[in-house]
Amino acid sequence: MTLKNTDIKSPEGKLGILIPGLGAVSTTLIAGVMLVRKGAALPVGSLTQMGKIRVGKGDNATEVNIKDFVPLADLKDLEFAGWDIFDESVYDAAKRSQVLSNEHIELVKDELVKIKPWKAVFKNEFVKKLHGTWVKEAPSHWELAQMVKDDILKFKEEKKIARLVMVWCASTEIYQEMIPGVHDTLENFEKALKANHPKIAPSMIYAYAAIDLGIPYANGAPNLCNDIPALWELADKRQVPMCGKDFKSGQTFMKTLLAPGLKSRMLGMKGWYSTNILGNRDGEVLDDPESFKTKEVSKLSVLDQICQPELYPDLYKDFYHKVTINYYPPRGDNKEGWDNIDIFGWLGYPMQIKVNFLCRDSILAAPIVLDIVMFLDLAKRASLSGNQEWLAFYWKSPMHAPNELPEHDLFVQVMRLKNTLRWFMDEPPVTYLGAETYN
Ligand SMILES: NC(=O)c1ccc[n+]([C@@H]2O[C@H](COP(=O)([O-])OP(=O)(O)OC[C@H]3O[C@@H](n4cnc5c(N)ncnc54)[C@H](O)[C@@H]3O)[C@@H](O)[C@H]2O)c1
Repeated sequence: MTLKNTDIKSPEGKLGILIPGLGAVSTTLIAGVMLVRKGAALPVGSLTQMGKIRVGKGDNATEVNIKDFVPLADLKDLEFAGWDIFDESVYDAAKRSQVLSNEHIELVKDELVKIKPWKAVFKNEFVKKLHGTWVKEAPSHWELAQMVKDDILKFKEEKKIARLVMVWCASTEIYQEMIPGVHDTLENFEKALKANHPKIAPSMIYAYAAIDLGIPYANGAPNLCNDIPALWELADKRQVPMCGKDFKSGQTFMKTLLAPGLKSRMLGMKGWYSTNILGNRDGEVLDDPESFKTKEVSKLSVLDQICQPELYPDLYKDFYHKVTINYYPPRGDNKEGWDNIDIFGWLGYPMQIKVNFLCRDSILAAPIVLDIVMFLDLAKRASLSGNQEWLAFYWKSPMHAPNELPEHDLFVQVMRLKNTLRWFMDEPPVTYLGAETYN
């Protein structure tokens, strides 16, 4: 398939961003977009807003802004809405989350107070640490999905929205594996929705509602959500682009920066110990072992696939990888992560690397959400559907087909993303061959 600029529908009209979970990440995104629109701050960390891409060869090569190269929605056209299990406006949730300063929040207060959550689809069995009070009630999952669709359609009509994207920014649900007969085909899944099957998670109900309405969907948490064959099938049927899982923001981002570098120099690794302290609501939810298991699986998968111990047994066989998260309220959203990496070099001589990352979880995640929204909207206007592997750059556990392996190396991921943008615009890929670069 060849896509040309003219084949991509232009981003006219408003883009509605639908968010299950109006917590730290989403309120930081929403307030951030409003502050950027006012000229009060810069969208640092966002590739779509600040990134450039090289186009052309040799003397004719230029670096152009990504947002000028591909037709993306304008920030002024974004309109936000969402669901939460607590009846708190985005203004109140932003204040409580304590990510942004009061000065920043007050600057956009008028807009933030207007965004109030719709009642959520929630089941305490899936997030044991939270007890929601602002929750939809219906006889079955099927009816809950219809209620989510009603919220969306009403919003679309009232705000005169042209296009929509949904991103799950709600709490991490407990660990689940795909269950044959429930999650495997669309037919079984729809039957299970109607039969109120207990293994259908709330995140799956939102994903079903969005994809069935033709709305692109992304999953910012590590739970299964849209990564089940039934919803892959639905995305195919409705021609909807989707992606996930688990924003790659802090410690895993660091891991996918460092590990490919060590491997590229054929340095060996004996162990990688990661721990961190986190005191926000996400940290509290992850204090439950069943929610943590979901996160742990997502975080652990990365190194194996980057290091390929089966191909390099002398360097990486039996390396020990451990990840822990400790809930520590005093730090709030300001996570601190420690990594100890035991590596070895020439003739097997050991060395150590220590990383101490004093990060801000939601400050790192918000621009990721913005980019995913922008690129999913682009994918939809370019008539792409199904899993968008070229967006693996943003995920800890990139969704992938059962017969494929996900790509975790950040540098391969960004090259792939940029080459996909060139492909969208009918520009040749950049392969860094001398002749291509210099002629
Ligand atoms: N911050 C990061 O860097 C980062 C990175 C990767 C993944 N994530 C994931 O993103 C998600 C959001 O993170 P956060 O820091 O904003 O957490 P948060 O706890 O501040 O926000 C989550 C919100 O979701 C709400 N919620 C829970 N279940 C819901 C449901 N079924 N429907 C609607 N709302 C629901 C909660 O009340 C809360 O307000 C978490 O799953 C987290 O694991 C965050």
